[in-house]
Amino acid sequence: AFNLYNRSFLTLKDFSPAEIGYLLNLSRELKAARAAGTEQPRLAGRNIALVFEKDSTRTRCAFEVAAHDQGAHVTYLGPSGSHMGVKESIKDTARVLGRMFDAIEYRGFGQSIVEDLAAHAGVPVWNGLTDEFHPTQVLADFLTMTEHCDKPLKDIAFCFVGDGHNNVAVSLMIGAAKLGMGCRIAAPAERQPAAEHLDYCRALAEQTGARIVVTDDVDDAVAGVDFLYTDVWVSMGEPEQAWASRIELLRPYQINRSMLDATGNPAVRVMHCLPAFHNRDTQYGEKIFQTYGLDSMEVTEEVFESKHSIVFDQAENRLHSIKAIMVATLGR
Ligand code: CP
Ligand code: NVA
Repeated sequence: AFNLYNRSFLTLKDFSPAEIGYLLNLSRELKAARAAGTEQPRLAGRNIALVFEKDSTRTRCAFEVAAHDQGAHVTYLGPSGSHMGVKESIKDTARVLGRMFDAIEYRGFGQSIVEDLAAHAGVPVWNGLTDEFHPTQVLADFLTMTEHCDKPLKDIAFCFVGDGHNNVAVSLMIGAAKLGMGCRIAAPAERQPAAEHLDYCRALAEQTGARIVVTDDVDDAVAGVDFLYTDVWVSMGEPEQAWASRIELLRPYQINRSMLDATGNPAVRVMHCLPAFHNRDTQYGEKIFQTYGLDSMEVTEEVFESKHSIVFDQAENRLHSIKAIMVATLGR
């Protein structure tokens, strides 16, 4: 059996393949129990702090609903309104929150901040996204992949196309390296995973049998994959001026009809952690689209709305997998 009690969840690097497998199984169990109305509250009486220095829809709602389902109470601290990082250091904030709460979720900037929090809080800390990693996303995504593909995870191959340097791409690659999957990252040289992460994954792949490929050749990378995955071209915390060069660089990596055809897999599924820039129906997007004269960025509207797209299954699975992390590390 696995005992993750009292552990923080900061990056998938800290977890063995078997522990990640256990969290995926627990996610499935909790999902089934919720659907059947047989869920047992294992977090009753717990108090949880949700610290968000960046915005969120899915992650915040998943933590709040999961906590409620499990009988816990949450306190939300948003990008403004607390002293954290402004008048009070991370270390001091960590010690205060650790005296009042049983666990802390943190979304924000540098990974070093969430590591600092965990070092000083004395309670489990869960990473809800940093500039470097987005580990809760990967659990939801791997759960979703197994629901849409009959193969065991280690036989599944996916290709992340676009900003291969970002938190989601790197976390997917680490997860794939841990679980022995096929992971291809198709991105221009400027936006490929940092050498540090790639070296880590390549070394791990030798033990786990993972097939890790990083290339700027899209046709090569997408051939035969089970899943195509993409994310926004400019992430939270990056300057808005990044768009001009990013669009230039990443345009050939858009998921569109011809990329689906290039996979040669008529059943290929399309994934995105969301939020996605697939049309002009957003305030922020409208400005960018107008400036650059485009109608979609990382994925076309047609593909996003097609039967290939499983993005809302992913979004729902954030709830079940985040709940599994909470129950495993804090549940009675
Ligand atoms: N995918 C994801 O983390 O979404 P939010 O930014 O809405 O939490
Ligand atoms: N890479 C994106 C993911 C959002 C969930 C970002 O960090 O903004």
